[in-house]
Amino acid sequence: MKNSWNKRSLIGIKDLSASEINFLLDTAQKLKESGKSKIDSQFSLKGKRIVNLFLEPSTRTRIAFEVAAKSLDADIISIAEKSSSLTKGESLRDTACNIQALGADAIVLRHSSPGSAHFLSKMIDVPIINAGDGAHEHPSQALLDIFTLREKLGNLKGKKITILGDILFSRVARSNIWGMLKLGAEVTLSGPSTLVPQKMEELGVTVSYDLEKAIDEADAIMLLRIQHERQTQTHFPSLEEYSRMFGLRKNGCKPSAKTLILHPGPINRGVEIDTSLADSENSVIIDQVSNGVIVRMAILHLCCAENNQVIL
Ligand code: CP
Repeated sequence: MKNSWNKRSLIGIKDLSASEINFLLDTAQKLKESGKSKIDSQFSLKGKRIVNLFLEPSTRTRIAFEVAAKSLDADIISIAEKSSSLTKGESLRDTACNIQALGADAIVLRHSSPGSAHFLSKMIDVPIINAGDGAHEHPSQALLDIFTLREKLGNLKGKKITILGDILFSRVARSNIWGMLKLGAEVTLSGPSTLVPQKMEELGVTVSYDLEKAIDEADAIMLLRIQHERQTQTHFPSLEEYSRMFGLRKNGCKPSAKTLILHPGPINRGVEIDTSLADSENSVIIDQVSNGVIVRMAILHLCCAENNQVIL
């Protein structure tokens, strides 16, 4: 397959073409096939220094980037807001300039402000990888979600995928919508009308407030948690009511046995999904987490290697 990748930074899925997405996922597939113990030397990032600058909490993304960098023989340093001089009033730009001066070859940034990764990519001269910027985009999450779907369903063209929950405040939803549509999937959004604006149909998706209809015949359902940290007002009467109306429940509204269940995590069991369904055979939630390492290895390789012109 011809190399379609010519980006230094990964800011969002909106900026990627279908062939760039497929090339990155094919690179991840090649890394997965090469196995844990013997990564091909063409992927090595030996001598590179990656800095994980996480200014919002994270378990999966931060650790997956750490494991991915170490698997490629790169050095990685993780910085959290509380232990950095951001707490003393230093700006994001100054912090990043200092990290570059200290020898970083790339910065993986998680930040609460939409546009922060794009801003840094214009301010400093090292690749910036967006690990989530406010409610804007979370590209590495969408790439691992699509990688997992591709593994389980094959080509996404014509596949029916429902994204269910708090879409309004979700960077995961936004990145997945761009990616899934670019690869030809049919995307339905569902949840309370206060969290799933009808206007989102302008993106090329279907909006449905009828949960049964939204999940009927879906090949996959992606659940999202309620993102209380980004909400400034109440969008539904109570968590109990949300769960009754829009939660997947063993004794309520549930997908067919062949429908895949995805969730980017963290899961709020008993709210958006019952434990029995989260841990059921059609749940691929843990596969997503494992694939997150492989996909982030591909991202780091393509954005940071001197010669990233891998021909697959
Ligand atoms: N899915 C996700 O971004 O999880 P973390 O917040 O734990 O990184």
